[in-house]
Amino acid sequence: APAKKPKRFRFFRNIWRLTYLGAIGGTAYLAWGVWDLRHPDDQFEPDPHKKNLVVLGTGWGAVSLLKKLDTENYNVIVISPRNYFLFTPLLPSCTTGTVEHRSIMEPIRSITRHKKAAVKFYEAEATKIDPERKVIFINDNSDVKGASNKTEVPYDMLVVSVGAENATFGIPGVKEHSCFLKEIGDAQQIRKKIMDCVETATFKDQSPEEVERLLHMVVVGGGPTGVEFAGELQDFFDQDIKKWIPEISDKFKVTLIEALPNVLPMFSKQLIEYTESTFKEEKITIMTKTAVKKVTDKTVEAEATGPDGKKTMQIMPYGLLVWATGNAVRPVIKDLMSQIPAQKDSRRGLAVNEYLVVQGTKDIWATGDCAVAGYAPTAQVASQEGAFLARLFNTMAKSEAIESQIHDLSSSLNITPGNTAEIAKQIESHEKQLRRIKDIKPFHYTHQGSLAYIGSERAVADVSWLNGNFATGGGLTYLFWRSAYLSMCFSTRNRVLVVLDWLKSKAFGRDVSRE
Ligand code: FAD
Ligand code: NAI
Repeated sequence: APAKKPKRFRFFRNIWRLTYLGAIGGTAYLAWGVWDLRHPDDQFEPDPHKKNLVVLGTGWGAVSLLKKLDTENYNVIVISPRNYFLFTPLLPSCTTGTVEHRSIMEPIRSITRHKKAAVKFYEAEATKIDPERKVIFINDNSDVKGASNKTEVPYDMLVVSVGAENATFGIPGVKEHSCFLKEIGDAQQIRKKIMDCVETATFKDQSPEEVERLLHMVVVGGGPTGVEFAGELQDFFDQDIKKWIPEISDKFKVTLIEALPNVLPMFSKQLIEYTESTFKEEKITIMTKTAVKKVTDKTVEAEATGPDGKKTMQIMPYGLLVWATGNAVRPVIKDLMSQIPAQKDSRRGLAVNEYLVVQGTKDIWATGDCAVAGYAPTAQVASQEGAFLARLFNTMAKSEAIESQIHDLSSSLNITPGNTAEIAKQIESHEKQLRRIKDIKPFHYTHQGSLAYIGSERAVADVSWLNGNFATGGGLTYLFWRSAYLSMCFSTRNRVLVVLDWLKSKAFGRDVSRE
């Protein structure tokens, strides 16, 4: 009889089999994802008898609503100046080319084309909402304009999900001279400007002061946007720029300015300290208790508060200035708020109730950064709110259908007296179903934790898990950060492209050419 294989050998054989099966399963899943993306089913045409549900925006709130909404229940119309969804958590990585911008964009056309019933999309900006007449005024602000580029869209139900704009607090010079980090165009502009500063600094006969200025990269705002960007920028310099242009090695400098006593105020004390010490190692200068008061084309003027409470003004020359001081309310939202008396005391956006209905209105809902529901303006909140509204609208449509069935059955009670008992039974069962469906609970946010990349392949995470919280930072957290964001990407296509970008930038380095 053949000799029995040793136990160790069988163990490795089983591991090999599992890997093999996993690879087959993974490839099949990927292939199915690609096939599904390229072969959408035929769609139902819009039914003019159904209600017009208009959604403003194609960001986190709007897209998560669209994803879960049964579009056959309504005539759905989406309006946004951006014809794609943007996966913002990886936007800081686009400023240095760790991830290419198209990898984190998902065309809205592909999202709407995969719904059961057709969804209309207009690439336009909503300039005004008239809640009295129930119409939205829209403008096509793109470079190519047709004969029709301004019009009105009527709605029966409206979801406002237009996000927020960059806060500048009216500080002089910020709008004119800073780069922001909210949209794809911002990331592209930053990427170009980093290399422009580097190339100009190495221009013939550049004075030492000018070289120092051009290579000083200033980030204002120590929230997660500022911290993640500063970390990505220092990585870009340490891992790539320095290799190709060694003569500027000791001149490139990143400074992060924050008005509060520490960066990342939403994270635990331990992670704030970890971030600050990692930045020190990376040679990023953090200036806390320092508020920027004025910006010119070449300098930042900031007021620093010393340990004794004494205030001093500092003038810092810069080459690149990235402004990341949070959110402000968009003009279209300010205008809507001014038309609704119940919104008079709201400052940070549209005050909504526990069902996300805009206070003082009946048929307008709001989600995400433009809504004030008592939560932080994050993608997590916006996407949970969008998903909640989808469930609410699906339920509303179902209950309306049952109500109309009950109405029909009640009318037939008088016409067909012979069947009274049977019809009454049916009505009772429908009413029971209706009560169950109508029992939809108010919106409840579940916080899954906060994650941020801090450079040098390290991340920090405050994660809620098994009813508890744990705070962690470092290299393993970085792997967790990468896998979490990868799983959150919108589509299989996004996931594949992001992984390829990560591999590409690791293998060949980031591209330092200035487009
Ligand atoms: P948005 O996603 O901003 O979408 C708004 C949409 O409305 C856009 O499509 C816009 O084009 C459209 N729009 C604008 N004006 C109009 C108009 N007048 N009419 C019609 N449409 C209009 N949150 C996290 O939870 N985790 C993270 O890791 C994270 N990382 C981030 C990184 C960066 C760099 C930034 C800037 C933000 C990050 N956030 C993160 C925050 C998160 O992106 C926002 O909270 C989220 O995008 C809010 O979703 P929203 O749908 O309200 O708005
Ligand atoms: P933020 O509002 O979180 O932080 C802005 C910071 O700028 C504040 O700490 C503020 O004190 C500071 N500031 C304001 N004015 C200043 C001045 N004149 N001078 C110096 N500092 C000044 O803004 P951020 O980072 O843009 O984030 C916006 C939202 O998006 C937040 O809710 C955030 O949680 C979320 N977000 C989450 C991320 C993540 O989870 N990884 C990443 C990026 C954003």
